[in-house]
Amino acid sequence: NTTPDLRHYLQFSDFAAEDYAYLFERAALIKKKFKAYEKHRPLTDRTLAMIFEKASTRTRVSFEAGMYQLGGSVVHLTTGDSQLGRAEPIEDSAKVISRMVDLVMIRTFEQTKIESFAAHSRVPVINGLTNEFHPCQILADIFTFIEHRGSIKGRTVAWVGDGNNMANTWLQAGEILGFKVHVSTPSGYEVDQSVAGIRSADSYRVFKDPMEACRGADLVTTDVWTSMGYEAENEARRAAFAEWCVDEEMMRAAQPDALFMHCLPAHRGEEVQAEVIDGPQSVVWDEAENRMHVQKALMEYLLLGRQPA
Ligand code: CP
Ligand code: NVA
Repeated sequence: NTTPDLRHYLQFSDFAAEDYAYLFERAALIKKKFKAYEKHRPLTDRTLAMIFEKASTRTRVSFEAGMYQLGGSVVHLTTGDSQLGRAEPIEDSAKVISRMVDLVMIRTFEQTKIESFAAHSRVPVINGLTNEFHPCQILADIFTFIEHRGSIKGRTVAWVGDGNNMANTWLQAGEILGFKVHVSTPSGYEVDQSVAGIRSADSYRVFKDPMEACRGADLVTTDVWTSMGYEAENEARRAAFAEWCVDEEMMRAAQPDALFMHCLPAHRGEEVQAEVIDGPQSVVWDEAENRMHVQKALMEYLLLGRQPA
């Protein structure tokens, strides 16, 4: 099961603009076939191992349903029901698991952990969320933007909220795909260019006031105030983030045809007003569904490379 031309997808910057151009086109085709009940089974007899060290609804369902639709099967592991929770070294787990499956998806804490796994894996490894990055989500978000509004190149994305995994991934995407990211976070929760791993500050701009970040944006997006693994900070975060709630006024400051996205799960009345997430500019359900279509394209790409149309 050794993969020729082994590539991993651990952060958005692992792929170049041309990889994304292919993936977005391929995801559109795969989605069209799915909607037409047309079989698309290039990964027959292949197995995906999914390792979850944090909870998930979308990531699990989209990878699991997606892999079955591609003709393959899945193994679902969590920290609690595997030796991962009993301190088996990550390197040993990688060597063992990757001898038995064709592809691995991991949701964990530190990015260094997924990197260690990948360094000892014989097969491609996909990041299903770490503290630092969430590349599959941004892949789906940009695909969703393209479906609704066309190319994202030259557009402006407003990020309102925590400067962690989602924000870091947006920064990488802006640099690679040529759009601007307006970032507004409470103080103490800023993005860190070195964590995001971007080369320059040209593709993003930091705003103290979330309303200013939204001004003229083509897409306004946010995320929970307290990410998984940070629950102990919940009270402090509720106080710090109180002004970082995407409301109708912020949406009015954006372009008239601006979209609203949220990776979900959402907390209405905290990071977003119900009127916004449940309103006409919100595309959160398309965004969630598209996780499956883009990840099917991604899994096919990592295992089989570029396919003729
Ligand atoms: N957006 C996202 O990754 O959702 P889950 O935590 O439900 O997988
Ligand atoms: N930032 C959130 C995203 C969940 C999909 C978290 O890390 O919990």
